[in-house]
Amino acid sequence: MAVLRSLLVCALWAVGATAVPARRQAGVSLLLSNDDGWAEANIRALYAEAKSAGYNVLLSAPAENQSGTGSTSVTPTPLDEPGEFDSIPAGSPAEGHNATDDHIWYVNAHPVDAVQFGVQNLSSTYLGGPPSLILTGPNVGNNLGIVTQFSGTVGAASEGAKLGIPSIAFSAATGSERSYTELAPGDYSYIYAQASLRLAGALVQSGATPYLPAGTALNVNFPAAGPGTDCASPEDFKFVLSRVYSVLGLPVDVQTCGSSSLPSESSVVGTDGCYASVSVFKASSKTDASKSDQQTVLNSLGALLTCLPND
Ligand SMILES: *[C@@H]1O[C@H](CO)[C@@H](O)[C@H](O)[C@H]1NC(C)=O
Ligand SMILES: *[C@@H]1O[C@H](CO)[C@@H](O)[C@H](O)[C@H]1NC(C)=O
Ligand SMILES: *[C@@H]1O[C@H](CO)[C@@H](O)[C@H](O)[C@H]1NC(C)=O
Repeated sequence: MAVLRSLLVCALWAVGATAVPARRQAGVSLLLSNDDGWAEANIRALYAEAKSAGYNVLLSAPAENQSGTGSTSVTPTPLDEPGEFDSIPAGSPAEGHNATDDHIWYVNAHPVDAVQFGVQNLSSTYLGGPPSLILTGPNVGNNLGIVTQFSGTVGAASEGAKLGIPSIAFSAATGSERSYTELAPGDYSYIYAQASLRLAGALVQSGATPYLPAGTALNVNFPAAGPGTDCASPEDFKFVLSRVYSVLGLPVDVQTCGSSSLPSESSVVGTDGCYASVSVFKASSKTDASKSDQQTVLNSLGALLTCLPND
């Protein structure tokens, strides 16, 4: 079997770049969450793409739009109204799963509670143990700088890191909140999903243990994507190490791209040519991580990261 598989892989490689088989991620499990709600298109696109990339995937996200709830927590309660986009009947229990796919869960509470429920109550049954990584979002709309303090998507990733699981928050410029039932082939949500998995995959391939320094998480922001933008395909994204809060001119960061001051998230996302920002932050305060933690991430993600063009 193994021999046959390697022969097949060799044969596929021999055909050339266009026939390279999709990277399998066997043994790596992902917990997905967000603050826009379990039925929002972006998180369902990420769920579908992560599954087809070979990850073992579990989704645990709020039953409603919970944008702006940051790191706040509430006790989950039964639904007194229908869940987001009529995806859950009124009167349903505080937590529940999709009728035909028991890896897709809602929690009628805040993003922090959905992450806690996913890690503490679901992961041993559905992932065979704690998730290898937590991915939150992609959020509808960017979370840059001070806005990260209020974002439920960043709050969810921070909670994951506090629970000891490497966590990444993704936020995306294009789109407005809409149901997963509106997803169409070539949708911007699939572009963002695949771009998110490029970054997560690079971390997994790096073999770093743990994937991220303890107590830190990543905040990733994507510029506009889709036809007519600089990011028409997931491969167009160029990832740049950034910082959440700018400190003009001060050499406080890891040395990279000829500088020891990383660019701000906004300046990365605002640069023409499809640049995505990647900041390492402390989960407890949502402020920039230490130089040595930035260095660790630079070492792991090095092959994926690039510099902004010199202007
Ligand atoms: C989701 O909630 C946020 C914050 O309350 C609000 O600004 C946004 O419009 C809501 N989105 C939808 C689609 O209702
Ligand atoms: C549940 O999952 C099925 C199959 O994946 C899908 O067709 C259906 O729309 C989903 N419903 C909800 C509410 O998530
Ligand atoms: C989830 O797990 C926690 C910790 O084990 C437990 O206290 C709580 O009752 C569980 N919640 C549900 C709804 O099962």
